[in-house]
Amino acid sequence: MSIGIVGLGYVGLPLAMEFAEAGMDVIGLDVDAQKVARLREGRSHIEDVADSRLGGALPRCTFSTHVEDLAQAEAILVCVPTPLNANREPELGPLLSAARSLGGIVRPGHIIVLESTTFPGTTREHMVPLLEESGLRAGHDFALAFSPERVDPGRTDYSIRTTPKVVGGLTPACTERAAEVYGRICERIVPVGSPEVAELAKLLENVFRSVNIALVNEMAILADRMDIDIWEVVDAAATKPFGFMRFEPGPGMGGHCLPVDPFYLTWRAREFDMATEFIELAGKVNTQMPYFCLEKIERALNDATKPVRGSRIVVLGVSYKPGVGDIRESPALKIIELLQARGADVVYHDPYVAALPAMGLANMELADALEGADLAAIVTAHPGVDHEDIARTAPVTVDFRGVTRHMRDASVLQF
Ligand SMILES: NC(=O)c1ccc[n+]([C@@H]2O[C@H](COP(=O)([O-])OP(=O)(O)OC[C@H]3O[C@@H](n4cnc5c(N)ncnc54)[C@H](O)[C@@H]3O)[C@@H](O)[C@H]2O)c1
Repeated sequence: MSIGIVGLGYVGLPLAMEFAEAGMDVIGLDVDAQKVARLREGRSHIEDVADSRLGGALPRCTFSTHVEDLAQAEAILVCVPTPLNANREPELGPLLSAARSLGGIVRPGHIIVLESTTFPGTTREHMVPLLEESGLRAGHDFALAFSPERVDPGRTDYSIRTTPKVVGGLTPACTERAAEVYGRICERIVPVGSPEVAELAKLLENVFRSVNIALVNEMAILADRMDIDIWEVVDAAATKPFGFMRFEPGPGMGGHCLPVDPFYLTWRAREFDMATEFIELAGKVNTQMPYFCLEKIERALNDATKPVRGSRIVVLGVSYKPGVGDIRESPALKIIELLQARGADVVYHDPYVAALPAMGLANMELADALEGADLAAIVTAHPGVDHEDIARTAPVTVDFRGVTRHMRDASVLQF
C-alpha cells in the first residue's frame, strides 16, 4: 500500500515515518520547497524525527511539492496547518487549498482522511465540495474520513502506535477503510459514527486541557497572594486516587494547539447561538499569565532593590514546552517582550532555540548567560538543564515550572 501525506510538519512527518517503517511507500507533499529539499537529503526539521530515523525511512519515501505525485497513493492523509487569522477566526486557507488540489487528482477507490484539528462540519461542508469538483462523489466513488492527530511533541510514553486513533467516516464504509489504513500503524482504532463526532472529540480533548490549565493557573495566582505554595497544594490534591487529574501551573499556554484550536469551536458555536464561555474564560486566564510572571519578576527585583530597567534577566527556556524547539505562541516570547519594553537587558538560554531574530536575541551558553545576571527566570524547563545549579548560581531565581521547588532557598521564588 502507498500512503500520501499532505503537510510534512510536526504531524505529517512523524506519520510518514510510521507508515514507511511499517513497510509502506510514502509520498510526502509540502508547499515549502526548502523543507522538501532538506527532507530529500535526509535532514529533518522536527525534533521527534532524528536524521538517522529519516535516513532509515528514506528509501521508502518520496518527498515532493507536486500534488500530481500523490495520484499513485492509495490513501491520502491531510495534515496541513489550521491557524487563526488576525481576527482570531479559523484560517482555512491551507486546508481549502490542499482540498482543492486533491480535487484535481482524486481517483475512484482513493481514501482521503483529514487529520488537521478543526471545527465540526469542516470535512463534510468544506472538503466534500472541493473534492467533488473532480466529478466523483465522496462516500461513493472515493472514501472520506476525519481522524484527529493526537501527537504530543516531545512525549515518549505514548507514540503514534500506542495512542488510540479515533476515526469517523462519511459513511460506515469510509470509516472501515480509514480504520484499515490506520490499523497498519496503530494498535487500537476507535471508530465513531461521523466525521463531526471525530472533529468535536478532538476539540473536547483540547478544551479540557485548556480549561484545566486555566483553573490551576488561577489557583496559582490566588495561592501566591495567600502565600501558600501552589506546588505543595497540587502535590497534595494529586494523591486523591479518583476524581482528580493533575494539572500544573505555568507561565501560560503555548504551541500550535491549545491557544488556537478551542477558538475554532467558539467560532462555529456562534452559528448555533452558543457562547462557549469556558473556552473564552480559559483563554482569558491563560493569556494573563505572562503578565503575572512579569509582576512576579518585578517583585523579586524590587526585593533586591533593583529596577527592571537595566537589570540583566536570564530567561531559561523560550520554546513553549520542554524538549522541543517550537516557539509558536510561547508565553516566553510575551514575557521577554514585556521585560524588554520595561528596559530590561534580557538574554536567554535554550538548547532547542538558536535565535529569536524578532527580539534581537540569540541563544547564549548557560555560563555566559548567567555571567553578571541579576535574575534567572525559569520559563520552560528543558531536560538536560540543571535548574537547581542555576538557582544556586543566580542571585535571584524565579521558577514558573516548579522544578526547584524542593530547594527551599530564600533566593529561589516559586509561583
Ligand atoms: N503540532 C502538534 O502537536 C499537533 C497535535 C495534534 C494536532 N495538530 C494539528 O495538525 C495540523 C498540522 O499541524 P502541524 O503542527 O503539523 O503544522 P506544521 O506547520 O508543523 O506543518 C504543516 C505543514 O503543512 C505545509 N502546508 C501548508 N499548506 C499546505 C498545502 N496546501 N499543501 C501541502 N502542504 C501544506 C506547511 O508547509 C507545513 O510544512 C494542525 O491542524 C494542528 O492543529 C498538531
